[in-house]
This record gives sequence, C-alpha cells and structure tokens, in this order.
Amino acid sequence: MTTKEIRKAFLDFFASKGHQIVPSAPIVVKNDPTLMFINAGMNPFKEIFLGEAPVKYSRVADTQRCLRVSGKHNDLEEVGIDTYHHTMFEMLGNWSFGDYFKKEAIEWSWELLTSVYGIPKDRLYVTVFQGDEKEGLPKDQEAFDFWKQWIAEDRILLGNKKDNFWEMGDTGPCGPCSEIHVDCRSDEERATVDGSALVNNDHPQVIEIWNNVFMQFNRLKNGSLQPLPAQHVDTGMGLERLVRVLQQKSSNYDTDTFQPLIQFISQQSGIAYNLGESDSKTDIAMRVMADHIRAIAFAIADGQLPSNNKAGYVIRRILRRAVRYSYTFLGFKEPFFNKLVPVLADQFDGVFPELKAQQDFVQKVILEEEVSFLRTLATGIQRFEKYATENTDVVGDFAFELYDTFGFPIDLTELMAREKGLAVDMEGFNQALEQQKSRSRAATAIDTSDWVIVNEGDENEFLGYDVSETESRVLKYRKISAKGKEQFQIVLDKTPFYAESGGQVGDTGTLKTSGSNPEVLIVTDTKKENALIVHFVDEIPEGLDLSQPLTSSIDLHKRVQTENNHSATHLLQAALREVIGNHVQQKGSLVNSDYLRFDFSHFAKVTEEEIARIETIVNRRIRENITKKEERAVPYQEAINRGVTALFGEKYGDVVRVITFDPEFSMELCGGTHVKSTGQIGYFKIISEGAVAAGVRRIEAITGEAAEAYINEQNRLISEIRSLMKNPRDLTKSLETLLEENSRLKKEIEKSVYEKAANLKHELAAKAEQINGINFIAERVDLASADAVKNLAYNLKDIVENLFLVIATETEGKPGLTVMISESIVDQKGFHAGNIVRELAKEIKGGGGGQPFYATAGGKDAAGLDAALKKARTLLG
Ligand code: ALA
Repeated sequence: MTTKEIRKAFLDFFASKGHQIVPSAPIVVKNDPTLMFINAGMNPFKEIFLGEAPVKYSRVADTQRCLRVSGKHNDLEEVGIDTYHHTMFEMLGNWSFGDYFKKEAIEWSWELLTSVYGIPKDRLYVTVFQGDEKEGLPKDQEAFDFWKQWIAEDRILLGNKKDNFWEMGDTGPCGPCSEIHVDCRSDEERATVDGSALVNNDHPQVIEIWNNVFMQFNRLKNGSLQPLPAQHVDTGMGLERLVRVLQQKSSNYDTDTFQPLIQFISQQSGIAYNLGESDSKTDIAMRVMADHIRAIAFAIADGQLPSNNKAGYVIRRILRRAVRYSYTFLGFKEPFFNKLVPVLADQFDGVFPELKAQQDFVQKVILEEEVSFLRTLATGIQRFEKYATENTDVVGDFAFELYDTFGFPIDLTELMAREKGLAVDMEGFNQALEQQKSRSRAATAIDTSDWVIVNEGDENEFLGYDVSETESRVLKYRKISAKGKEQFQIVLDKTPFYAESGGQVGDTGTLKTSGSNPEVLIVTDTKKENALIVHFVDEIPEGLDLSQPLTSSIDLHKRVQTENNHSATHLLQAALREVIGNHVQQKGSLVNSDYLRFDFSHFAKVTEEEIARIETIVNRRIRENITKKEERAVPYQEAINRGVTALFGEKYGDVVRVITFDPEFSMELCGGTHVKSTGQIGYFKIISEGAVAAGVRRIEAITGEAAEAYINEQNRLISEIRSLMKNPRDLTKSLETLLEENSRLKKEIEKSVYEKAANLKHELAAKAEQINGINFIAERVDLASADAVKNLAYNLKDIVENLFLVIATETEGKPGLTVMISESIVDQKGFHAGNIVRELAKEIKGGGGGQPFYATAGGKDAAGLDAALKKARTLLG
C-alpha cells in the first residue's frame, strides 16, 4: 500500500464506524497562549474536551499535520539522527466526544491494524496504565480486560505515568492511555530476545505506532486533576511509522513518504543514500533535509513566516538547521533547499491542497531565507576560523554564539573543532543554552491561576454583531500575571465585546453593576482563548459580588471606526486583486480604530500608479454605498463553491459566516464586524506601501475621520506653503523656479567664497608677525562657510612656515574660532591647538576642541572675538 492508500484506508475505516471525516487544522495555532504549533491531533478539539464548545459530531476522524519542535513535546534534536522521529508528521486520529469509550476504541484499533492493514498479531504489544499512587489514580483494569479479548495476556504490558498517562501540556485535558507497539525485528532476533523487553526502550525496530487516550481529566495549574464534564476518546497514530511498518522498511525514511525527497537530494548532490539505519553524515543530512522541508513548507503555507521571534524564530531555526547540514555534508553552497518544495507539493496534492496552491510563494520565502542565511553562515565560518587560530579550546559561550546566531548545530561545531584539534566546552555550552531558555521563558511567562466559577452556565455567546450593550452574568474569572503586570480575565454568558481575531482588535468598554451607586469594571481588551471570549480587566474592586448581573457595553465610537477599517480592508483586498492580480493572498492583517494594515503575497513593489487605481476603485465602491450582506451560517463547501475569499492558515468550521459587498466584487469568509453600507467608510486613503518579508508586501491605509484629518492636514500644509510663496498662480511652477534659483545662487556663492578665500590667503600671509621664530597670524575674516575657513587654514599652513594661526569668524551673529599650528612647532613647543582653542573660546562663552595642529570652537558671545584674538597673542609670551 502506498502512503496515500494507507491514509485513505484509515479514514474509510472510521467513516464506516460512523465517524465524520474532518480536514486537518492549520499547523500554526491561534487563540491558545499555551501552544505555538499543533503538537497532537487532539489540539483542535481541546475546547470540546474542556466543555467550552458544543459537540457537533460525537465521532470524528482525520489526519492532522503536527509539529513537535517546541514546548512539552519537542523531538527536534533527534530528527535525522534516528530514523523514526520527525518535526512535522501526520497524526491519524479518531475521536469520541462523550460517545463510545474504551471498549470500542480498543476493538476498532485492533480490527484496523490486524484485519485491514494485516499486521501479524504476534508482532503487536499493547500497554496499559498501571496506576499512580501519588496522583490517586488506579490501574486501568478496564482497558486491560478489553484487551484480553483480543491479545494474549503476556502481550499486555503495564506502563507508568510517563508512558501511559497522556497530557497535552502542563495544563489541559489528559487521561490514562493505552499504546500499541510493533516489533519489526527479524524472526531470528525475535526468537533470541523477547519483544516485550524492548517496548518503550528506544529500540529503533520496536516502536510505538498508536496511542489511545481515554480523556477523563483536566490538569489544573495547581497540579491537581479535575474530572472532565464527559469522557472522551483521543487517539493518535503516526502515519509515517505506520507506513514504514506496512511497507516493511527498517526506517521511516525508506518509505514512499520520504524517498521522493531523498532521491531528489541524492541526485542533485551526486551522493548516494544508504537505506536503513545508516549513521553516515551524508545520510543524516539527507534525512534532516527531507524531514525539515515538510515542517517549514507547511508552517509557511499555514501563515507562519520565518522571523526573529516566537513561532517565526522556531521556523527560522529549523530551516537553518537543514541548510547547515546540506551545506557542510552535501556540498550545497548555493541555495538548494527551496527546490524541494515542488517535490513536496506534488506529494501532498489532493491531501493538503494548501501547499500546491501556494507553492511559488512558499518556495520564494524559503529561497530568500536561504540566501540571507548562507551569507550569515560564511561569516560564522570565518568567525570560527579566526577564533581557532587565536584560542586553544572552544569555550561554551562561543559555541553558543555559533549555535544561536549562525545556526551551527553543536555537533557541527564539535566536528569543526576536532578538525582543528580543539575541544568544545560542552558544559559551558549547555549552561548558555539553559540561560537563554530561561530568559525566553521569563520573557513570555504568563502566570495563570485556575478559573473561579461564579455562575453556572456555558453559553459564552457573542451578541456584538447586533448590539453594543447587553445584560450579562459572569460565568468565571481568573487572575493572570505577565511581565510583572496583574490582570483579571472574565468570561460572560453573553457579551457584545468582539474578541480579537481575523486581524480586528478586541473591543474595550465597561462592565457595570446596577443600582444607584454602580461599580464599573473597565475592559481594556477582549481576546479569544480557544472558544472562550475573555475580557481583560485591570482591577476588580474588593468585595464586589461578581454573581450579580452586569451591564456590559462596548466603546461604540471606537468600534464604529474599527468597522470602517475592517470593511475597507475587504474592499482593498478585492481592489488589489483587480489591479495587481488574482495571486494576491492575505498574509496578515491588523484592523483597529486608527488605521488598517494589510499584508499580502506579491513579488514586486506596488507602483504609485497601481496605488492610485486601487484607491480610485475602493473610493468608488464607498460612494456606491453598497449594502452589506451578512450570512451567518453558510455551509463551508457552498461558500467555497461560490468563490468566496478564504484564508490559508485559518481554521474554518463546516458552517461559516460570509460578508459580501456586491457579489461581483467582494465576498469573504469573516467573523469580524462591519459597516452596514460602504458609504459609512467615508473615504479611503493609502498612506504607505512596502515590503515586510520575501514575497510579502504591506499596505497601510486610513478611512473616515482619520482620512479626513489626514486630508485636512495636507491641505493646511499646502495653504501654508502657498501663502509663504505669496500665493502664486501655479504653485508647483513657482516652487520649481525657486529651487532652481536657489541652487544657482548656491553655486555662485561657493564660487565667490572660494575666490575670496584665495585672496585672503595672501592677505593674511602678508600679515604674519615674527615672534620667537613663529609666524603668528590672528585675524578676523569674513567667510560665510566653515569649509572655506578650514580650507583657508590648511592653505596658509602650506605657504607659511612655523605658523601659529587664529581665525575669528562671525556667521549670522554666531562667533567661531579656528586654530592652526604647524606640526614643526607643535612638536618643538608642545602647543596643542585643541587646548588653545578651548582656552580662547572662554572669551566668546563657548567651547570646542580638536587635534594638536588643528581645532575649532563655537560660542555665544561675538563681542568677545577681539579679546580672544588678543589672548592668543599672549600665549606666545
Ligand atoms: N493525544 C495523543 C497523542 O498525541 C493521542 O499521543
């Protein structure tokens, strides 16, 4: 069976057991502060497990792309070195939300593996949770008993909390689990050592393929386990491992999932790949590349561009790791990694279509990253070479710098060091690494206490499409602190507050108690956390009874302006497509009450002429005063068939909201709030266009009041200029004439100053007074430019020997002094022009300095210039 067939067989099997097949969610996580990337198939369903979102289908199955490169589940360092860990992998999963439990989950997993996939039963082992006294959890006897019906008892192994109690993160849904392991060793090996001894022992041929989790608890912040409102099943089977078992390979990389990539790399590098568990550097490098391209390509396709912080930095680091291996071990000195994108896109065509659809964009982004990293890399290697000639060993801090700044994996630094006969201080390196980790933990640490339940209920309903004020009840609240700031989060049963999403900022406003002397809570922001709408409040007055009803009202003025900008963003996107092409894909957006920012894929600068056309189209649409059509529940597929604009990287439900401003012009899937009709936007003005990253442009624009203020300001400026110019008939022409005249005059002045300075040179030279073998000149000159004075001083030095020159100038009332002393007398007499000018500058209430032979000073009191010149004379004795 091919990878595609194996994937399909899984989905077909669970469809036949009444499961709804759903698409993979994007790999990049939004609205969950505990997670950057999807790390398990269950993440997109977290809110259902926690009882925060309703169950639409009680049985679901899918293949979910996952990334285990940060946080609790992080396999990055193993990847490529071994043959069965991956950064991105597909997790096949089936779920029961409060429906079937252990019996069916166990029965079906056995049926699928042995009957559908035909894995020999004598190669399978299963594990069951042995219980944990400290947690107060009993052995999972139930799972044990169900397994007994299918598999010999000596193949059911008990496992501890580490292996058999699955948790999503430090907090969140969790429960006992039962894993299925396959023994892929040869018959001889199996006869010698019993497979049960190798289960969960890091044996490359005895591997876990499927985990069945029986979700029963929520791990709270305080470490305790809280029973979930219902019991669920969450399973995860690594597709790449399953394929390897079914295709009877000893390495995941030998299957048809990875071989197309590896063969391509091998061909292009001219280096053969050794199948199996080879640990040669070239084979490891090919595995690293074949693995990492998947993680990077899908992260970019799902909206995460490489960058310098957070999730973007994780992606950049993975990319650098791949390029580093290919550069050093496979000899790719020019950008090559990006060329894997088309191979990958073909493989996933029809499975995860988002990659094929954005192939050029993704490849371009990777190419640009490669180009800039290869440059950094060359610098890093030079740094190392230089370091190696000056040091006897590599200290930890330097190894860390290479790792952090130049993307050198530590094993590579060790290799390079070994080649030079140096040792690397690994302890120091690990310390530096730890310090960095704890720094970034501290920077992002959000301390969240557990929810305090105030009123029962689970509605958490958003009413803000229709009203700006409602009566609400507090369901729960909690305290959070981040970067030393304490805040409260409040969840209401009903709310008019829009929670930040789709680029639109969260609403602000108030929550007010009733009565003659109401308490007012100020809502500073509203955000989504999974399915919850969370209101941020700086303070809850002491003793306030939160269980009473509150009036919640949003800042309406702010909301209206935000809506103007949001609707304008839709018009802008449609106009962009009209003007620069249909390839335009949204790559980010920010909509607040001040302005809008729209990032989109496009490979060239948007020209001024294009900008003007875009503005014209949008403003025409505004004047047409098109009425918004809002449909709150359109089946997703129907919307897509209609040609509605959807975003890559967005997780859409199967019923979506569609916002239309003229079906011929703008139809978008959108959860945001909008104007009733476009006329309300008033006016649209683009204020900037530029690049954000490779292949991504950014437009910033304003509307309504802000645009009016902008235009008024521009008009005021022009009026001011016009009146300064004495109200000419043709302002531009007059300005041009003025500028021309100005530059002509400047040239003339320069010329005349130059001539004047040349004359002055001789005049001054003739005035030299002989004092103790020194030619002393101290004079006022009338030269408008500091450059000219400097030239004069240097020229005098050339024609007058043993010169001691002091020049006093006055330009527009400001006094200046210049001192020039021939080197011969600087050396002989120990004069220092800098010190002298400082001394003289006292007379003009100023200061200055410079070199021993040349120095200048400025001051405030021009009346002191003569005194300064006189004082200079006294210095010569
Ligand atoms: N959530 C389980 C896992 O990721 C299935 O292993």
